[in-house]
Amino acid sequence: MAYTKIIAHRGSRGTRPENTLEAFQEALKVASDGIELDVHLSKDGEVVVIHDETVDRTTSGKGYIKDMTLQQLKELDAGSWFDPKYSDARIPTLQEVLNLLADNHFTGVLNIELKTDVFQYPAIEEKVLALAEPYLAQFSVIYSSFHYETLKRIKALRGESEIALLFSKKGKQQMNLGEGIAVEGWHPKFSILRSLPPFEQSKIPLRVWTVNRKVEMQVCLRKNIDSMITDYPERALQMRKVIQG
Ligand code: G3P
Ligand code: MG
Repeated sequence: MAYTKIIAHRGSRGTRPENTLEAFQEALKVASDGIELDVHLSKDGEVVVIHDETVDRTTSGKGYIKDMTLQQLKELDAGSWFDPKYSDARIPTLQEVLNLLADNHFTGVLNIELKTDVFQYPAIEEKVLALAEPYLAQFSVIYSSFHYETLKRIKALRGESEIALLFSKKGKQQMNLGEGIAVEGWHPKFSILRSLPPFEQSKIPLRVWTVNRKVEMQVCLRKNIDSMITDYPERALQMRKVIQG
């Protein structure tokens, strides 16, 4: 039986400030199978790793990422909101995260989520692909988005890329799993799992998010779902040992 893969959501979001090098270091330390992160584009066109469209929630600053240069973003404290002991944490560039993974001999799956459903960042798809390309020999990359146009663009630019659609509502995705839309993975929210067609029969991997509660982890492990994306990778790995051996 294949193990359910454990993907560290925004690094190890439950235990470190999300989407910072500190969070990714933690995910590497606990040896999660994969790492998920979110990307946006700065005013000067740098691919930066942060979840929201603004810096308000997770840094000491205020404003839209698209209106700030990388230098301005780098001045912000991206850790104190979580715990003052992480006051040195900064918003990383995607390049910095890729370097960190390579330097640590990461061989798992990197899930890059392109946050293009609010702002259409110019050429973000091209930039992300170009940044990831040199690392593909070392670890695999899955490109995911809630915005299907972004996935189509990635596929058009580099046909061998693995793309996955994120969704949180029933709707057009509540279709024939693995058919109809040319994606290589479905990334549904855990709460809609039950309303999908028999997911055990999915022809493509299901990577469910954000699986944090014990009972939710148990469901994913017992149903042998391909991957769970979790804020607590260490906890999930321990539970996997108990349930899947
Ligand atoms: O990729 C899974 C998950 O990250 C999607 O939602 O809002 O946490 O980026 P969000
Ligand atoms: Mg995400």
